[in-house]
Amino acid sequence: MAAAPSDAARARKGILRMWDYTDKVKDHFLNPRNTGEIESPSAVGEVGSLACGDALKLTLKIDENDRIVDARFLTFGCASAIASSSALTEIVKGMTVEEAEKVTNQDIANYLGELPEQKMHCSVMGREALEAAIANYRGGDKTKREIEGNIVCTCFGVTDKEIERVVRENDLTTVEQVTNYCKAGGGCGGCHGEIEKIIERVQGERVKEQMLPPPRKGGKLTMIQKIQLIQQTINEQVRPALRAHGGNIELIDVEGDKVLIAFRGMCAQCKVSDFTMKDVVEAKLREFVSPDLYVEEDTDGAGEMQEHKG
Ligand code: FES
Repeated sequence: MAAAPSDAARARKGILRMWDYTDKVKDHFLNPRNTGEIESPSAVGEVGSLACGDALKLTLKIDENDRIVDARFLTFGCASAIASSSALTEIVKGMTVEEAEKVTNQDIANYLGELPEQKMHCSVMGREALEAAIANYRGGDKTKREIEGNIVCTCFGVTDKEIERVVRENDLTTVEQVTNYCKAGGGCGGCHGEIEKIIERVQGERVKEQMLPPPRKGGKLTMIQKIQLIQQTINEQVRPALRAHGGNIELIDVEGDKVLIAFRGMCAQCKVSDFTMKDVVEAKLREFVSPDLYVEEDTDGAGEMQEHKG
């Protein structure tokens, strides 16, 4: 049987059903810049494996001022892998090593206009090759990227640390997205539960970071900050779960450390609302706002947030 024509050959003949690629992706795929290998390079970075379908070797020439004066690549992969590698070399040429260190996979995707989400792992591969090359330049004796963490996805050899990083840097919220960005989860599916736990943990940490109020002298929240944080925690950490079961919650008042709430919808008639109040609402408020808070239900059902008295 004859070998299948390459993506490039099929694209030139116009028979390749392309993804929804931007013109810039198509251009960098059909006319890749900086292909090949630098002779006597200052740094080499290699990632991927042919077994997983993608591989990239990046070579850099770096001058005495730590500036990248040339960058070349060899890759085995799809149109996006070629375009991402080509874009990467164009981005880093002329940068200092310190500047190149800050290049993210999103920078590569942005340079190309955008990449289909199913192909974002190609931009991640570019960023990883760059990191491997910089580590090699800084004195590492290896050119292959060091794998950190414990393998979560055995089908693709992806670790917890790698998954954490793509989730954090790209604000991912689903297993499918994680597969698109680093391939983890794209085989037998046996790692999906573990990936979900990582997403939940990283997103929880992100919310906490975003919710941190500006520090006040003495480290205490003002009453206004406390109310804002309580409202934010209810909106982001509590309400979505209650809504999923046809219920809702309203913040009625805050008096010192007492938080007065009212349940609405299904929650208002729910037999386990006491449990929800203590083990969900109070637990979340203690975790995200202050361990001193306690929650009580507003039994007369006042609907509006009152002026606080604390
Ligand atoms: S172990 Fe991750 S897809 Fe198989």
